[in-house]
Amino acid sequence: MDFQLTEEHLAVREAARDFAQNELLPGVIDRDTNAIFPKDQVKKMGELGFMGMMVNPKYNGGGMDTLSYVIAMEELSKIDASASVAMSVNNSLVCWGLEKYGTEEQKEKYLKPLAGGEVLGAFCLSEPEAGSDATSQRTEAILDGDHYILNGTKNWITNGSSASFYLVIAQTHPELGHKGISVFIVEKNWEGFVVGKKEDKLGIRGSDTHSLMFTDVKVPVENRIGEEGFGFTFAMETLNGGRIGIAAQALGIAAGAYELALSYSKERKAFGKPISKHQAIQFKLADMATQIEAARLLVYKAAWLKDNGEDYAQASAIAKLYASQVAMDVTVEAIQVHGGYGYVKEYHVERLMRDAKITQIYEGTSEIQKIVISRSILR
Ligand code: CAA
Repeated sequence: MDFQLTEEHLAVREAARDFAQNELLPGVIDRDTNAIFPKDQVKKMGELGFMGMMVNPKYNGGGMDTLSYVIAMEELSKIDASASVAMSVNNSLVCWGLEKYGTEEQKEKYLKPLAGGEVLGAFCLSEPEAGSDATSQRTEAILDGDHYILNGTKNWITNGSSASFYLVIAQTHPELGHKGISVFIVEKNWEGFVVGKKEDKLGIRGSDTHSLMFTDVKVPVENRIGEEGFGFTFAMETLNGGRIGIAAQALGIAAGAYELALSYSKERKAFGKPISKHQAIQFKLADMATQIEAARLLVYKAAWLKDNGEDYAQASAIAKLYASQVAMDVTVEAIQVHGGYGYVKEYHVERLMRDAKITQIYEGTSEIQKIVISRSILR
């Protein structure tokens, strides 16, 4: 067991930290207030190699390990979780599955620009009536010669209007239940594909969340990933890795709020001394530091298991379940340390608290993580 980060990991952390401070911090309050997608920032993240970090360099990726990815996710999420979720979805929900299961033609055409950060991708599983109950897909893709006819609606899709390519999960054989679900690559400009309304959200307000409508969209057979019926397994396997990314995001939100609370506590005076000299605040800081350290170890362990070819489904669910709870607990306490200042936008911690909440919901709610964990334990 080695707790020492390599030179490469430290360099990734430094690069992500610099980028977050210099490029994400300016304007982050305005983007949150006005629900503006960080388009220019995400483009720069692509140029710096953050959008396909784990993809093989022959497909324009960074060829790095999962630990590098979670380190970068933590640093960016300390400042702007709206930018980091765009990165997480592109890396682990879109590029990963394309690289693992896509054909060489699909990788050339779609993975290369996605991993190189030229375009963004989206992962379309959730529907109005299929959120946690993901097997209940209503979207249908019916084979018609050399293409499928796709009809249906997807909800709460991250990168919904900014993406160019969409991985869409759909029923190809409804009578087979989840074994009749398949997955397709759909391009944004195809006829019949309409980007619906943008969601007005509590947190990650800069993230571009939309519903999507497909009406008789013609999808060529060669755009199916894997065999017919492989779509549900594809989605579950993809989410096993995605949850490591969201756990790292939750960790970053918590760590960002903690760092702000720590520095504020040394500056703010009450009763004749900095509030960090009061035990009430010291104990809060101690609890936050302990929870964050525990979350970080769980996230790193899940990443390590994935990098070493071990089963990581249970570890990623544990990491997400715990880190997202830590994100909620720590951001609430960080506001408390800031007192009245914590309740206003200028001090950032109220935004971090609003951003934290989604980490208990997307890529599987905390309750779903408990299902995954308990099934794995009891198997
Ligand atoms: N890894 C691999 N395979 C899995 C799996 C996992 N974690 N979980 C289930 N499976 C497989 C099962 O082995 C089974 O396969 P077989 O039939 O071949 O044996 C199949 O999937 C069906 O599994 P279940 O019988 O367990 O299905 P279920 O309906 O009882 O429960 C569930 C499945 C775990 C609850 C699943 O529906 C689930 O994970 N739901 C949550 C969905 C989710 O995370 N949505 C997030 C949306 S994406 C998002 O948020 C993206 C974004 O933009 C940020």
